[in-house]
Amino acid sequence: MGRKLVIVMVGLPARGKSTMARKLGRTLELDGIRVRIFNNGELRRQLDTNSNTSSSEFFSPANVQGREMREQISRMNIEKAQTFLADGGEVAIMDASNVTRERRQTIAAAFPGVPLCYLECLNADEEALEANLERKARLKEFRHLPPEKALESFVKRIAYYESISEPLDTEPNRILVDSFDSCILQEQITEVLPYYDRIRDIITTRVVRNLFLVRHGETVYNREDRIGGDSELTDKGLEQAKALAEHFATVRIPIIFTSNYTRTLQTASPIAERQDPCSIIALPEFNEIHAGVCEGMTYEEIRQKMPHVAKARGPNKYRYVYPGGEGYKTMEERVHRGLKKVFFLNNYDENIMIVGHRAVNRMILSSFLSRQEEEIPYIYMPQDCYYHIQIDPHKRLFELIAYRNVTSGW
Ligand code: F6P
Repeated sequence: MGRKLVIVMVGLPARGKSTMARKLGRTLELDGIRVRIFNNGELRRQLDTNSNTSSSEFFSPANVQGREMREQISRMNIEKAQTFLADGGEVAIMDASNVTRERRQTIAAAFPGVPLCYLECLNADEEALEANLERKARLKEFRHLPPEKALESFVKRIAYYESISEPLDTEPNRILVDSFDSCILQEQITEVLPYYDRIRDIITTRVVRNLFLVRHGETVYNREDRIGGDSELTDKGLEQAKALAEHFATVRIPIIFTSNYTRTLQTASPIAERQDPCSIIALPEFNEIHAGVCEGMTYEEIRQKMPHVAKARGPNKYRYVYPGGEGYKTMEERVHRGLKKVFFLNNYDENIMIVGHRAVNRMILSSFLSRQEEEIPYIYMPQDCYYHIQIDPHKRLFELIAYRNVTSGW
């Protein structure tokens, strides 16, 4: 059989299985391995043009017809995977919930002589899970329902899966992954599996297909050189947002992540309007550094009225904490948490956009670049350019791109 492997994804819906499957598939492919993903949900949606199978009742264990259709879809994908492996394919990834032993036994029986690796995804982070459920409820398959109904239906679907779920215990070669933290929680590998070390690496490595890191447009406070606050965009800032929308109109952006502040939401809004569909997810983790007692002051006022702050911050900007506020160092944890949410909520195949702030964007960028901490608070973060980031095991790209619309005149 050579170096063939079947990876069987396992886990309840919305636990990050497909994102993990795509990350594995794409990276193995870049390594020159012939790999293909067989996704039952996608096949169901392709076969069901009238959204008949998106109702929660379709997933009820008591619905004999629904159960038969799901098993049939699983068999169709198994057959496709058999053909793929017989035709020279090397790694088949079976992407579905696969929560019952019976389903897993059917898959195992279909690939005699080929080792199987069960990859179970869980996500213990309640906030990220909730945000993921909300995101899923906005997907195309629920478009015919109002958002609350869609969410209710999806939650019920998960409960049905939970009611029939059986733990992985007798299956050989299983690996339990926290898909929010991209870490391996448990491993039980009992035979030599091809590509296994590579698979472990990929699970824990951050891969970024396209991340557009944008700073919000000019605000009233920016114009006055004031820090913090929640001021609105100036006319120039609104123009910048429009120019960004124009610039990205032909680039697919399904989600824009922002902070909770008006200026990032105002910048994201015209960009989202040019996309179909696009949701804006505001994450408090991306709020700008809180300057405590200095909020709303200009740098000059700080120098004059609070010389001790200016004096202490200057030489140690990264570790300095504003009285009653934050510092770059103290933002580290929350910004990294925000990034984990972004990668969990964004499908691996899709472009990511973050509209953030000067200090927050410096922190985001520095989490990809290995920069000395004293350099981080000085990373160039202009308002008429954005950073384009791509990272995979074979490539690292950080590009500063001007989006300025030459005709807009600013
Ligand atoms: O001036 C805009 C701003 O985003 C402020 O709100 C924030 O305090 C500052 O930039 C961060 O930049 P620095 O750390 O260089 O002062």
